[in-house]
Amino acid sequence: MKESLELIREKALKELREAASGTDVENIRVKFLGKKGELTKILKGMGKLSAEERPIIGGIANELRELLQNKLDEAADAIKGAERDIQLKNEVIDISMPGIRQVRGKRHPLEVTIAKMNDIFLSMGFTIEEGPEVELDYYNFEALNIPKFHPARGEQDTFYINDNIVLRTQTSPMQVRTMEKQTPPIKAACVGKVYRSDSPDASHSPIFYQMEPIVVDKGITMADLKGTMDLFAKKLFGDDTKTRFRPHHFPFTEPSCEMDASCFVCGGKGCKLCKGSGWIELLGAGMVHPDVLRAGGVDPEIYSGFAWGNGIDRNVMMLYGIEDIRLLYESDMRFLDQF
Ligand code: DAH
Repeated sequence: MKESLELIREKALKELREAASGTDVENIRVKFLGKKGELTKILKGMGKLSAEERPIIGGIANELRELLQNKLDEAADAIKGAERDIQLKNEVIDISMPGIRQVRGKRHPLEVTIAKMNDIFLSMGFTIEEGPEVELDYYNFEALNIPKFHPARGEQDTFYINDNIVLRTQTSPMQVRTMEKQTPPIKAACVGKVYRSDSPDASHSPIFYQMEPIVVDKGITMADLKGTMDLFAKKLFGDDTKTRFRPHHFPFTEPSCEMDASCFVCGGKGCKLCKGSGWIELLGAGMVHPDVLRAGGVDPEIYSGFAWGNGIDRNVMMLYGIEDIRLLYESDMRFLDQF
């Protein structure tokens, strides 16, 4: 009995030394310690031994079982460790390999400028309004004193959806829409895209952006118009900016004017941007015509107001030194990446 235990010990340890995988180790465990294992068989046969032999052989057999159990566990751990090392080696990340560059988006110069203008208006207590780009002929023209066949329509030829619906040619329809929605005192800056059927060239695009502030309250005068527009120009182009006003005509304002700002590049001396004049034409403006106030449900005997419209694209082009308006709409990353 002692000899067979010695034999089992040698056989088991030899097989364990040769075990190459977790499965090998498990097979050895079953072969010797399993229910029908070689050592288990001996332990089961202990009853047949004499009373003297039993404790001695029992002691050796139990010792062997413990030894084998420990050796099996050790072997299993060692193999698991080796397998993990191999896995780690295979899954290694080469940190010296160049990564895939992520393209980071940026805000379009038009958006940046609109945000800047919105901030200026919010700081002056205006609300920011948006309105429909597909507009009724009524709001775009008729309510603004431009009846059908009025020559002013020719200047703003547009895309007609049908006889009564157009792509808005200006943000001015927002004047009446805002007055319909709000009651005076009104201080609103309306911003958005407008459309004209112009052929694209360096200074024309069939789509562009306008900003249209409107103020309506009791006792609003041309002085409020001048003060507000002068402050807007200073906040947009810098504190040293000067403004000048020239008489003009718009069907929906009376009186009407245009405002120029001193050139923010040369400070008024004359340069390429201002074409030597020292001034930059900035916007059209005027006191809201009584007809327009009435169209908005506002009594011109009690209230007065002013409004202006500036082309945001032109402002962007000046601020960033862009010479062709089409660049703003071509989505060319080589151009947009510069801002
Ligand atoms: N809507 C005019 C245009 O697109 C600009 C304009 C002129 C707006 C005078 C106004 C204004 O509010 O008072 O040419």
